[in-house]
Amino acid sequence: MSLPQAVRIVEVGPRDGLQNEAVLVPAPVKRHLIQLLIDSGLKTIEVGSFVSPRWVPQMADTADILASLPRDNGVRYPVLVPNAQGMAAALAAGATEIAVFVAASESFSRKNINCSIDESFVRLIQVAETAAKLHIPVRGYISCVVGCPYEGEIAPGAVASVAARLLEMGCYEISLGDTIGVGTPVKVQAMIDGVAAHVPVGQLALHCHDTWGQALANIFAGLERGVAVVDSAVAGLGGCPYAKGASGNVATEDVVYLLNGLGIDHGVDLGAVALAGRYIMGELGRSSQSKVARALLAADRV
Ligand code: HMG
Ligand code: MG
Repeated sequence: MSLPQAVRIVEVGPRDGLQNEAVLVPAPVKRHLIQLLIDSGLKTIEVGSFVSPRWVPQMADTADILASLPRDNGVRYPVLVPNAQGMAAALAAGATEIAVFVAASESFSRKNINCSIDESFVRLIQVAETAAKLHIPVRGYISCVVGCPYEGEIAPGAVASVAARLLEMGCYEISLGDTIGVGTPVKVQAMIDGVAAHVPVGQLALHCHDTWGQALANIFAGLERGVAVVDSAVAGLGGCPYAKGASGNVATEDVVYLLNGLGIDHGVDLGAVALAGRYIMGELGRSSQSKVARALLAADRV
């Protein structure tokens, strides 16, 4: 079995994690969380989105957050952009990396961004052209890569065709989102195999929500296929407001523990990321979704 020697962890807690919270998290709390995540060694932290505040009010302060973050520390702060209006706002706020998002399912596309898959590409090609002129890297997300809350199972071919379009548009990396966490390792590997016929595996990432408790197994299955970029959210925060019942992302603490056990480099300090998780869960008044964080806490090691 050959696994990657190193994995890049993309922390999505401040965006995917907090976009789904019922109460608005104050900007100073978000800033402190991001600082703790930086202190843990994470080098890519998705810090918010420039979407409609009517659709996702939790992300309305992304410009303020972005403007206040420390720079020149080797940390990248991608933000989600759905259209030209969001791109203009992201640029005005000083974004230096963006992420665009599409779906492999028509119904999810309509629920999430109010347009078809084809229409989303029309919008995003414009965004990607602007980004290319300014040398701003664009990451591409695909939602519902194994299952959709409205359409059920999604065929690998549907994901592959959307992935090929994102690559063609100029995305440097494509993050494959199991939005509702229904995937199992064999399905995830079949999906990756389908996509890898169009996109080099080195440009793929896995973005697993853990609704059905399969995220770590699916990530391992992805590592077996050579995927070396993993999205996760501290404390297992997260969900998509337009994917009913979807729970949090796989917890960063759990991914770090898995990678430690496999001897795979990642550059993140487990204790420090668990501290970040303890902080944000304290602010939210809930306990962490991360089993590793809970075990560390029980052993008095955080
Ligand atoms: P729309 O209503 O079709 O947009 O929404 P529109 O172009 O018709 O404009 C309507 C109004 O929205 C106008 O304002 C625009 O100015 C405003 P009004 O004149 O009525 O006052 N508007 C905007 N405002 C701020 N920023 C913008 C923007 N664009 C238009 N960028 C839109 C279309 C895409 C904006 C909307 O559907 C939207 O914001 N959706 C957000 C969905 C979202 O954020 N979902 C969660 C992130 S994706 C995710 O979580 C999945 C992922 O984690 C991977 C996975 O797990 O699968 C990435
Ligand atoms: Mg997500």
